[in-house]
Parts: sequence; structure tokens; C-alpha cells
Amino acid sequence: MLSVPLNLCVKGNRDFTMRNMLHDSVTPYKTDEEKNKQVAQMFNNIANRYDLLNSILSMGIHKGWRKQCVQLLAAKHPKVILDVATGTGDFAIECAKLDPTQIIGIDISDGMMEFGRKKLLKLKLDQLITLKNGNAETVCFPDDTFDAIVVGFGVRNFENLEKGLSNLYRILKPGGQLVILEFSYPRNPLIKAGYNFYFSYITPLVGKIFSKDTRAYSYLTESVKAFPNNEHFVEILNKLKYKNTGFKSLSFGIAAIYRGEK
Ligand SMILES: C[S@@+](CC[C@H](N)C(=O)[O-])C[C@H]1O[C@@H](n2cnc3c(N)ncnc32)[C@H](O)[C@@H]1O
Repeated sequence: MLSVPLNLCVKGNRDFTMRNMLHDSVTPYKTDEEKNKQVAQMFNNIANRYDLLNSILSMGIHKGWRKQCVQLLAAKHPKVILDVATGTGDFAIECAKLDPTQIIGIDISDGMMEFGRKKLLKLKLDQLITLKNGNAETVCFPDDTFDAIVVGFGVRNFENLEKGLSNLYRILKPGGQLVILEFSYPRNPLIKAGYNFYFSYITPLVGKIFSKDTRAYSYLTESVKAFPNNEHFVEILNKLKYKNTGFKSLSFGIAAIYRGEK
């Protein structure tokens, strides 16, 4: 039985004053349309190729990264888990290993979740995991709802990063854990050179070949470069009152796990 109500609503939060960050202004199509709308459209466009391209471009490493995130949550045995920016549901599926009573995935792209729901049916996880349209920045679950919140490659796409992270803080239970997986920028000059080449040439090329949206994989490169790296991201978590924050670099710094607690 589901204990967290699923009829999500949108919360007006007009007077939310936040620093206008560089990454917030990096958008998929560079039009005047809101970033959230552009992002949702982009992911709807690439949804049918997302899992395939994820595996090709990361050579399968992304699965191990999600596993490490979920292991971090294991000690506290979270029962009610939210997967923000769930996409095709991989993080939610990995969280099922924690033996929770309920997992909810939210995303602004219905196209991505359509593929996610098919996977859940195949894996017989559709009773445990529910995917719902919802925006991290405005989704209005009651305060103190979730034992754990995970976000995989999602925060970089938020229209207003701080607003999104604050809302997630609000709906975490006191003592609840936030675990974020995101691309980051390596420091070693050699790795950095390879990383720049890969993200500047290989990623957009492979994206172009396999997906009909030619902007999507250039946006990936631009948004990764503009995103606050490692300590900078942790500073934002601290500013928003998260406790016990920290990060762990993965695979020579090309990705990072960030964590915090309420
Ligand atoms: C790169 S995919 C990641 C999917 C999945 N978490 C994974 O680990 O593979 C990013 C997802 O974030 C979603 N997204 C972006 N901004 C969002 C927001 N403000 N609220 C909820 N979902 C969002 C997109 O629609 C997309 O499905």
C-alpha cells in the first residue's frame, strides 16, 4: 500500500530570491522558453535512445556509480525513498535493493518515464515504484516525508538549482539523507585533456548519430562545464542548511557523489 499521497500539486514560490547562477542560464535550445520546458522537451526527444546512449557513452560505468550511491544509503535502511529526475527509472530500480516500502520517482519528462514504466513492469517492480510527473523545484509533498532522496544526473538540469535543492530539503525527514550523482570536472591535467576531447567531440558526435536531437548532447557538454564542481557544490548544500555534507570523486573525477542530511 502506498503511504505517500501521489496527487502532486505545484507550489507557488514567487518570492524565492536566489542568486542567478551561471549554470541556470545554460539551456538546451537557447530560446526564450523556460529552461524546465526546454529540458523536458529535450528528454522527451531522446527518451527512446537514452538508455542505449547512456551505456555507449559511459561504457556502462554509470551502473557502478549508482550502486555506490545506493550503498551509502544502506546503513540507515530508508523505507520511503524519492528518486528525483528519475528519467527511465534506473536509480529508483537500484534503490529497490534497499528493501524499502515505497519508492516514488518524479520527472518533468513524461517521455522518459514512459520507458521507465515499461522497465518496472518487466522487473515486476511496478507495485513498489511509482513514477509521477513532478518538478524538483515545485513539487509539494508534505514537509518531512522522505527517509532518503536520490538524484542522478538531474540537478545540472534544474532551472534554479538552489530552489530545487531547498525544496528537496523541505520534504526530507529530519535525519534523512540526500545523495546526488552528477558529472564533475577532473583536476588532473591529463585526464582533463581527455575529458575535454571526449565531451567536446565524441559525445556530441555519438549523440548526433544515435538520437534525432542534435542539440541534446552539445547541451550535455555545456551544462557539465558550467556546473559547480565538487567543493563549490558542497558549499551550496551547506548554505541551504544540509548537514554532514561531502563529496566523493568517481572514476578520476569525471563524476562525483554528493551527500547531505537534514
Ligand atoms: C540525464 S537524465 C537522468 C535520468 C536518471 N536519473 C538516470 O540516472 O539515468 C536527467 C533527467 O532529469 C529530468 N529533470 C530535469 N530537470 C528536472 C526537474 N527540475 N525536476 C524533475 N526532473 C527534472 C529530465 O527530464 C531527465 O529525465
